[in-house]
Amino acid sequence: MEGHIRIITAIDDMQQEAKRLLQTGKTIAFVPTMGYFHEGHLALMREGRKHGDALIISIFVNPTQFGPGEDLQTYPSDIDRDMSLAESVGVDVIFAPEAEAMYDKAYQTHVDLEMLPRYLCGPSRPGHFRGVATVVTKLFNIVKPQVAIFGKKDYQQLLIIQRMVRDLRLDIRIIGVPIVREADGLAMSSRNTYLSEDERRSALSLFQSLQQAQETVAQGIRDARELIRGASELIRSYPYTKIDYVTVCDPETLEDVDRVDGPTLMALAVWVGKTRLIDNTILEPIED
Ligand code: PAJ
Repeated sequence: MEGHIRIITAIDDMQQEAKRLLQTGKTIAFVPTMGYFHEGHLALMREGRKHGDALIISIFVNPTQFGPGEDLQTYPSDIDRDMSLAESVGVDVIFAPEAEAMYDKAYQTHVDLEMLPRYLCGPSRPGHFRGVATVVTKLFNIVKPQVAIFGKKDYQQLLIIQRMVRDLRLDIRIIGVPIVREADGLAMSSRNTYLSEDERRSALSLFQSLQQAQETVAQGIRDARELIRGASELIRSYPYTKIDYVTVCDPETLEDVDRVDGPTLMALAVWVGKTRLIDNTILEPIED
């Protein structure tokens, strides 16, 4: 696909464009986002560029995945900057619908998963993953991709989308992209812009605690409680931090494990001041 990036806001127009592309034999790769791009988003788009003739992204701050008191109203946005960044990595179309068009007054259909939303971020964000699964399903139906790209930064979200696609037999290949980090290790996030200078220093505790756990596992320690204790202590040693959860769990089911026997997910969520940050890594035990 050649030429300038296009922005489509009407749902019907996007559906028509997707049909037109498919009828002319083109494949569609899709990257859903909430905008305010950083290198993490751009890595997903670069990956998407490899998997479709047309690369479509969405920018939609989805109200149904925000709880009461969360940052829906203040979520950062800069559509002009996003457009030029998207264009620089070869995006063909930005789909940016209005909230009222996605959810009209009589809207009442949702996609709910049974188990995966019960873990990690689920308990502190009730309804969040229902909002995510619902909007991603809608976006898939509008954009009609063969391939969709998600980041491992939101590991639970990626797992939920993969499970949903399998359960509902959506004919879409889901690709996961590794976490993109700042030079000092902080996972990139649109929400990092909320951090003051002091908080930004404390935010590094998330990555450092994961790294410390990796080193501990490399030394042969496999007890989950010991790893969680070490991580929690490190995080608490920084000012402004408040732990939501630190978990060592099965990377497929998200159920807690007692020991790191094989690839294991360590995931955490930490409040730094008024900003809730998440990060994760796969712990790999050394062979005995
Ligand atoms: P958003 O937070 O904008 O993230 C869009 C995509 O970028 C997600 O797949 C996310 O995992 C990925 N991403 C964010 N930071 C990343 C990083 N540092 N490294 C790698 N990938 C990263 O996630 C959402 O939006 C929404 O929930 C959405 C899927 C769009 C549904 O509304």
